[in-house]
Amino acid sequence: MEVLGIDIGGSGIKGAIVDTKSGKLLSDKIRFSTRDTSTPKLILKDINDNIIKKLTWNGKIGCGFPGIVKENKIYSSANISKKWVGVNLKKKFFKKFDLECVVCNDADAAGMAEITLNKDLNTKGTVIIITVGTGLGTAIFNDGKLVPNIEFGHLKMYGDCAEKYTSNYVRKKQNLSWKQWSKRFTEYLLFVESLISPNLIIFGGGISKYFDEFKSDLKCNSKIIPAHYKNDAGIIGAAINSVK
Ligand code: BGC
Repeated sequence: MEVLGIDIGGSGIKGAIVDTKSGKLLSDKIRFSTRDTSTPKLILKDINDNIIKKLTWNGKIGCGFPGIVKENKIYSSANISKKWVGVNLKKKFFKKFDLECVVCNDADAAGMAEITLNKDLNTKGTVIIITVGTGLGTAIFNDGKLVPNIEFGHLKMYGDCAEKYTSNYVRKKQNLSWKQWSKRFTEYLLFVESLISPNLIIFGGGISKYFDEFKSDLKCNSKIIPAHYKNDAGIIGAAINSVK
């Protein structure tokens, strides 16, 4: 089925039409920056102007959001306006654009793309995907089944959220070298491993394309691999989630 996948992020918003069976993008990928004033009203206007209208889309939408999402309603929002909390995004899409939309957490979406579509993956036991971007997103699967809304980016490290210590945003802001950042991320990986003993860690998000630059500096006990769908996983997984 063809679905418009949208990935709302703290720094950028992306969208493309996705074939939910193969995970192939059937249109150009559109990306634009998230406004500083990232309220639902303005972001939805941007999504309509920059994605829905440009792709002349009038079918189903799957949307990933950077916060806790239950039954299409937003329950937390760390790197985007707090005005999202309490919003039922499915209802908003319907009311504003008369379009059907299914919403889930952005890391859960990325994980779904990797787990469902990458047939080479051994999904036995506990698999965690960690998306490294403006925040740190985490999705945990047990024998291929998602445990939704795991917020391990908010584990406490040095008195604050782990994502304030080792996200890609922090790496750029503090001008950390790959080595310096990898040292921090290794601490985080070991912390996560001490809690859930994963069989496999999938490294996702914007910087997964640079995985080769720092993989030898990441020290952990589990196997760690880059996301197969890299930064498109969020779009693809959001689309897949809308038809499952
Ligand atoms: C949010 C998560 C999200 C992650 C990546 C965190 O700040 O709490 O829900 O998955 O950022 O966007």
